[in-house]
Amino acid sequence: MNHPIVLIAGDGIGPEVAAATCRVLAAAQAPLSWIEHSAGLSALKNNLPVLPDQTLQAIRDHGVALKGPCTTPVGEGFTSVNVGLRKKLNLYAAVRPVRNLKGVDTRFQAVDIVIVRENTEGLYSGIENEITAGVVTSMKVATDIACTRIARWAFRYASQRQRRRVTVFHKANIMKLTDGLFLRCARQVHQRDFPQIEYEELIIDAGCMRMVQDPARFDVLLLENLYGDVVSDLCAGLVGGLGVVPGANIGDREAVFEAVHGSAPDIAGKGIANPLALLMSAVMMLNHLADTRTDPACRAAAERVKNAYNLALADNQKTRDLAGSLSTEQFADAVIARLHH
Ligand code: NAI
Repeated sequence: MNHPIVLIAGDGIGPEVAAATCRVLAAAQAPLSWIEHSAGLSALKNNLPVLPDQTLQAIRDHGVALKGPCTTPVGEGFTSVNVGLRKKLNLYAAVRPVRNLKGVDTRFQAVDIVIVRENTEGLYSGIENEITAGVVTSMKVATDIACTRIARWAFRYASQRQRRRVTVFHKANIMKLTDGLFLRCARQVHQRDFPQIEYEELIIDAGCMRMVQDPARFDVLLLENLYGDVVSDLCAGLVGGLGVVPGANIGDREAVFEAVHGSAPDIAGKGIANPLALLMSAVMMLNHLADTRTDPACRAAAERVKNAYNLALADNQKTRDLAGSLSTEQFADAVIARLHH
């Protein structure tokens, strides 16, 4: 049986990396069928709103989506489609595994971090006001419910995956109420339900320094929205950049899988973007399908794709962001050539 998946190709490099990813998945005989919908600039071009109702409804109907990046104008224009989608569908947990890959040389070894980011509130509440000319505010929102929910998600994940420690980065010394609540909820969940997992709190500035000194000491990171956004890219830089970090946005009903990177307008249309981050996100999606729909064919397809891209990297088959010379499609070909059925 093929699982119907909503495909949002997105903007900029989105359609290029989505096409390459779908080609690999098809060659791997992943049991998926695509239902294409648009969001972002590509929706606007089709005279649709940036986040069309039919796109949201399709995700509600089918439960799972694979999404390319959507462009958000800086300092003006429409609000972020990505943030809107996560809020509307209540995809409260962003999960981003950051690992060293064999064949991708970086300054660090043994990096194996899973970022769990609160995806619905914090400074991304989008509540901004002009109080008077020259004075603007942005509201940071933290609720007991959302902070507890994300803490529970992170600890449950750590426990199920045999992870040893959850670290929270915070700034509760300054933002005593909002970050204070985030910490209190994390402590409570830890003490009440997961005392067997180590728990650690670091003020984010010192945490970032330790992250670039010794990233291998970190395990699961639990972060509020803005910190999670920034630290995700920082962590991507530790293992080879945005081309190699996948992600999932998970709620109680739906899940949307997307790379951490954006639409990369600087390289869009050139056919040189690395499709690996979206392909890795698709592997996460297949594993999610295997878990939630108990379909072993999804797990097998995930394994085939993962083994193939690992072999390709080990054979030095890489795109330019990883100091290789392959195009997006050539990398997809290199992965396909290493699929073993
Ligand atoms: P970006 O992640 O698009 O690009 C940052 C740098 O990394 C660029 O030099 C880019 O060429 C490179 N890069 C990113 N992905 C790559 C890939 N797959 N292969 C090779 N190189 C890659 O971040 P930027 O430039 O800050 O944002 C561009 C647009 O993307 C903005 O409109 C932003 O709002 C949007 N964005 C969307 C996201 C999403 O849809 N989830 C996430 C992040 C940004």
